Amino acid sequence: MLRESITRNSWLLAVFAVCTTLLISGTYLLTRDRISEQKRMAEEKALLEIVPRERHDNSMLDDVIEIGPQAQGLDLSEVKRIYLARRGDAVVTAIIPVVAPDGYTGDIELIVGVNADGTIAGVRALSHKETPGLGDKVDLKKSPWVLGFNGRSLGNPALPGWAVKKDKGVFDQFTGATITPRAVVAATLRALQYADANRKTLFTSGVETSAGTLNEASAAQAAGVGEER
Ligand SMILES: Cc1cc2nc3c(=O)[nH]c(=O)nc-3n(C[C@H](O)[C@H](O)[C@H](O)COP(=O)(O)O)c2cc1C
Repeated sequence: MLRESITRNSWLLAVFAVCTTLLISGTYLLTRDRISEQKRMAEEKALLEIVPRERHDNSMLDDVIEIGPQAQGLDLSEVKRIYLARRGDAVVTAIIPVVAPDGYTGDIELIVGVNADGTIAGVRALSHKETPGLGDKVDLKKSPWVLGFNGRSLGNPALPGWAVKKDKGVFDQFTGATITPRAVVAATLRALQYADANRKTLFTSGVETSAGTLNEASAAQAAGVGEER
């Protein structure tokens, strides 16, 4: 009697586990495409905020250079894309992905638009897990703080100024939250330095632009990345 009951319950449990797994897998497969489409739309929206349509005449989403974890200073853990905004043949802005690994709650994924003259066109946080009400002011939906980077460059301010005010720099920290803005300021600076080190490749116009001369060149090529589409 007891054995029968155990066997029956085991079967019930097994059937339940299989059904749940099928349900979760099915939901994942059904929503996967929609999620990646929504990510693409969010990315496009951020790109267009940084470089509005009137400043470029190409499709930035299709004008990319792939870079990987070897890209110096960007702290990428996977292959990401640099987007190029062109007007005619000239690249007006390169939008560089960079990760701030030292946020309060882990990685903050950013994109930094760098104009051909080295000034910042815009910075946006694409994803973060910072605390609501404290660190999440890095998100433009919550605060205009990221707009403070617009027009800045490697010389403006000079290197020591690339820090939050608490660290004697020029950028505001958030009330009661210094760790998040400190991480974002440092990552933005690293993106600017990357653009400067690779300026010839990024801003030399024409489709012959090749990521083969980017800093991470050989390793990236070995990994099959670094080709413009
Ligand atoms: C629950 C909790 C969540 C916090 N979240 C953040 C955050 O998201 N970003 C941040 O910069 N600081 C956050 N802080 C505050 C930091 O611990 C720290 O006190 C603050 O950033 C000041 O850092 P500083 O002493 O280096 O200037 C949080 C603190 C607590 C207790």
